[in-house]
Amino acid sequence: MSPFDGMDGGVILGVESSCDDTAVALVTAKGEVLASRKATQEEIHAEFGGVYPEFASRAHVKSIIPAVEGTFKEAGISPRDLRAIGVTRGPGLIGSLLVGINTAAGLGLVWDKPVIGVNHLRGHLRSADLEEARITYPALIFLVSGGHTVLAHMRSTTDIRIVGKTRDDSVGEAYDKVARMLGLGYPGGPEIDRRAKEGTATLRFPRPLIREGLEFSWSGLKAAVGRHVDQNGPEPVNDLAASFVRAVLDVIEAKCRKALEDYPSSCMAVVGGVAASPQIRESLETLCAEKGVALCLPPLKWSTDNAAMIALAAWDYLAHDIAPPLVAQARLSLEVF
Ligand code: KG4
Ligand code: ZN
Repeated sequence: MSPFDGMDGGVILGVESSCDDTAVALVTAKGEVLASRKATQEEIHAEFGGVYPEFASRAHVKSIIPAVEGTFKEAGISPRDLRAIGVTRGPGLIGSLLVGINTAAGLGLVWDKPVIGVNHLRGHLRSADLEEARITYPALIFLVSGGHTVLAHMRSTTDIRIVGKTRDDSVGEAYDKVARMLGLGYPGGPEIDRRAKEGTATLRFPRPLIREGLEFSWSGLKAAVGRHVDQNGPEPVNDLAASFVRAVLDVIEAKCRKALEDYPSSCMAVVGGVAASPQIRESLETLCAEKGVALCLPPLKWSTDNAAMIALAAWDYLAHDIAPPLVAQARLSLEVF
C-alpha cells in the first residue's frame, strides 16, 4: 500500500530559497510537476567567486512573490487547490531561508493552508522521483552539490541513513575554488570539466581518504592544487584541470564502489549540481554496470536546487504526519526531518 492511498489529491506548493536560487513549484502527490520556476542569481555572485549571503537574501525578497504568482498562472490553478505549502527550513544560509519561510508562513495564514518545513537534503534525495518514479529500494543516493557530498542508503522514501559524507568541503566547492585558482569563472564545475577534457592528467594530486571507509575530504586536494599554482602559476590550465578531475574521479569511484559493496542496493541515483559532470556520470556508469546496479541519473533540472523536490518531500511529511518546527536551521543533518 502506498502511503498516499486515501489522500484526496490536491497539490503542494514548494518553496526553496536556501542558497542562491529562488524556486517555486506546484507538485501532485504522484510527483507530477504542474509548474516549476527558478530565479537564479549567478550574475550577482559571479564577481565574488561564490555566494555572497547578504545579496542572496535581498534577491530572494525581490523574486519570491513574482515566482509564486507566475507558477500558479502557468499551472492554471488557484491557491484554493492547494493541500499544503512545503518550504525549505534548512540547511542553508539563514537570511535566505528566512525569506522563504516567512513568505510561506504568510501565504499559509492568508490562504488557510498548512505549512510544512522541509529538510532541503531530503528534497534532493527525493528529486529522482519527480515526473516519474525512477528509484527502486533499497537505493544508494549520491548527493553531490555546491553545499554537500553525502552517500545515503534508503530503504524507503523516509527510511534514510547517511553512510558517508564529507569532513570538510563539498565536491562542488572544490570545483569552484580550483576554478578560481586557475582563473576560470563561477560556477567552476562546467568550466573545469571543459578544460579537463582538453588536457592530460600529468600531475598527481592527493586522493584524500581514498582507502579510509566512506568519509570524504576535499580540502587537502584543493590545498595541493593551490600550492602548485602558488609555486608554478596556473599554466598549463587544461592539464591542471585534468589532474584535479582525475583525483576527484578516483576518490568518487572508490567510495561508491565500497558503498555498493557494504550496502547492497538495487539502484544508485546521483543528484545535485555536480551530477552534471560528464566525467563523473561516465565513471559511475562503468561502476554500476560492473556491479549490476541500475544507475539513475535524473534530469539535471531536478538535480540542481529546485522547489519541486521540496514539494515532493513535503508530500512524504504529510503522508507520515511529520511536522517539524517551522524554524530556519543553518545546519541540519539529512537524518533529521
Ligand atoms: O546543486 P547545485 O546546483 O547547487 C547547490 O550547491 O545546492 O550545485 C552547484 C555546484 C557548483 O559547485 C558547480 O560548480 C557544480 O555544482 N557543477 C559542476 C558541474 N556543473 C555544476 N561540477 C562539476 N561538473 C559540472 N559539469
Ligand atoms: Zn541543494
